[in-house]
Amino acid sequence: MKRDLVSLAEWSREEVWEVLELAAHLKRESRAGVDQRHILAGKTLAMVFQKPSLRTRVSFETGMTQLGGHAIYLGPEDIKLGKRETTEDIAIVLSRYVDGIMARVFAHEIVEELARYAAVPVINGLSDLLHPCQALGDMLTIWEKRRRLEGLTLAFIGDGNNVAHSLIHACGHLGLGFRIACPEGYEPDPAIVDWARSRGAQVEILREPEAAARGADVLYTDVWASMGEEAIAEEKRHAFSGYTIDLELIRKANPGALVMHCLPAHYGEEITYEAARSPGSVIFDQAENRMHAQKAVLALLLGLRG
Ligand code: CP
Ligand code: NVA
Repeated sequence: MKRDLVSLAEWSREEVWEVLELAAHLKRESRAGVDQRHILAGKTLAMVFQKPSLRTRVSFETGMTQLGGHAIYLGPEDIKLGKRETTEDIAIVLSRYVDGIMARVFAHEIVEELARYAAVPVINGLSDLLHPCQALGDMLTIWEKRRRLEGLTLAFIGDGNNVAHSLIHACGHLGLGFRIACPEGYEPDPAIVDWARSRGAQVEILREPEAAARGADVLYTDVWASMGEEAIAEEKRHAFSGYTIDLELIRKANPGALVMHCLPAHYGEEITYEAARSPGSVIFDQAENRMHAQKAVLALLLGLRG
């Protein structure tokens, strides 16, 4: 039975931990110069992108190379997902060539449809709804820096978007409290909040960034306008005015709080440059850990289980 990573809600807590532990192991091995090319020797990953990317594209492609496999980049102009032929046909055809599909899409239903029709594992590299690979890399980062996850509090200052949603899933699995400070109308999806609460997770929706920061171990933010929201970027800039992580807000959090951002950042909007370069900032560790976490996902879905 093939396994997908479309949403962390479909994974168990044990599976999330399995990825984090394998990721930490693979990272240690990489640092020690251990050859990992036997893990996915001869395997190919198709990477389908409807949207731009720096981290996701490069970390998946490099991860495949390090594991001895190969990745094919299929940009918006290559296969014209949803325009040239059906998503169903693309999933079936790709499955005849490759061992796994990673897709970055607009509508979440597209990655669900790819997973439904593909005979090979499908990995969500970001949809309008979710960004599970980001949350896995982020949990690896917090775990490395704090040596624990359970009982910590993550305060998300900003939009209840795809990154916030996958962080809620991850916090729900791993026992972190999640708080968001956002203006009215920009809350996370209630179904996702309910999913986490039904597992006993603490999820709070607040208005004031200061209230969210107080007692937080992690301050996290993301762009106010996501890819595909260009037309409402100005409206959101207005709505989110005051929802900026700056040095003053960091002082309200617990001493030594981590400052996190999935990147790309719009300095001066959701985070100041000074905050992003402050001693607690781990934004570039997050970017690096995307690769280690995804190597673990690839090894488990395409190799060890595939
Ligand atoms: N954080 C992240 O997914 O970055 P990219 O959009 O550059 O892939
Ligand atoms: N919320 C952002 C995340 C980018 C990695 C977006 O969807 O554009």
